[in-house]
Amino acid sequence: MNMFEKAQPLVMDPIIYLMREYRADTRPQKINLGIGVYTSDQGITPIFTAVKKAEEKILREQDTKEYVSVSGDEGFLTQVSKLMLPKLTYGDEIAGIQTVGGSGAVRMVLECLARLGTERTLWLSSPTWPNHKGIAAATGYETRTFQYVDDKMQIDVERIIADLADAKSGDVILMHLCCHNPTGVDPTEEQLQALFEAFREKGLFPVVDAAYVGFGDELENDVAKFQRYVDAFPEVTFAISFSKNFGIYRERTGCAFLCGHDGSALKRALESMFAIARAGYSMPPDHGSRIVRTILESKALDTEWRAELSAVRNRIRGTRQELARQLSEKAPRFDWSYLRDGMGMFSLLPLTVEGVEQMKADDAIYVMPSGRINIAGLAASRLDGVVDSIARNLPG
Ligand code: LMR
Repeated sequence: MNMFEKAQPLVMDPIIYLMREYRADTRPQKINLGIGVYTSDQGITPIFTAVKKAEEKILREQDTKEYVSVSGDEGFLTQVSKLMLPKLTYGDEIAGIQTVGGSGAVRMVLECLARLGTERTLWLSSPTWPNHKGIAAATGYETRTFQYVDDKMQIDVERIIADLADAKSGDVILMHLCCHNPTGVDPTEEQLQALFEAFREKGLFPVVDAAYVGFGDELENDVAKFQRYVDAFPEVTFAISFSKNFGIYRERTGCAFLCGHDGSALKRALESMFAIARAGYSMPPDHGSRIVRTILESKALDTEWRAELSAVRNRIRGTRQELARQLSEKAPRFDWSYLRDGMGMFSLLPLTVEGVEQMKADDAIYVMPSGRINIAGLAASRLDGVVDSIARNLPG
């Protein structure tokens, strides 16, 4: 019997679609400002020296490739908890499991909540990372959205609360810890507390996607945001990625943390995550988590990693400011202050789909159809050309 002939073409996640299109483009001057990957001024995605050193140590010292465990490496999970949630006791107040990257962590958390019997309604910001919808669909959630920013790229708390009017108690709400993808707009402390209040009133259950810790602000300041959620809700879940902040994209390193006050309930919930892992991929890959653990366990490597992460963040911030400055000169009819002040690697440009297509066709510059630009992929030597192309293709 033939099965494959039944296959229908699928509409791909636009990020992956653009990645494929970019790779197939043979023009040597092409620039990828689509998928969120950091690129140096030399046009490569370098390996952090702290990561290289950790790998050398692993290569020297590792003496077995035996299975680790269904939950992954406990040493890694403990180190991550010390870094991200130093006030909580790992095991009693955090149930953790290693995951296949940050996407795997989002999937793990949603699937776990579904197993535990939450409402299968997931509230997402509009816009959000396209894969949130994909993961929600794959785990049987119906998605609803709230408008995250207004047309001036400002968060409108009243509007968000109004959009959540018919949310039911037990619905799940997904928040971005920092560096909102794709807008680059994060709530102020006051806005965050107002949102927390509204979520608590409605009985919404928070899932926090933490993919860009250390890309927005000083590492300590980004990290402090984890505790804000823990302080605001009796139970909260985190999906944490190490792809960007350790630059280990292809190693697929992440973890899911469930936080609460009832240690025995957490242990039971952890069993659910074990079952999900076992039935999905059995046990997670080890190399990436071993790198992270090796770095966090060594004072010297940790210091080196933090310095490299700061350099990455500062370079992105510098590019952002220069991009905003040049666009203010070349396209003064738009207010670019949101671009200048944005957090992390992404911002939305006011481009139309046609404008984006034109940039691709004329200049081999790849930007997401939504107008999302990956500022971390923009080398200084290419900035002028990119600004010209954007300015030429802006509407009106
Ligand atoms: C992005 O939004 O481009 C990144 O999070 C990478 C990805 O997997 O989509």
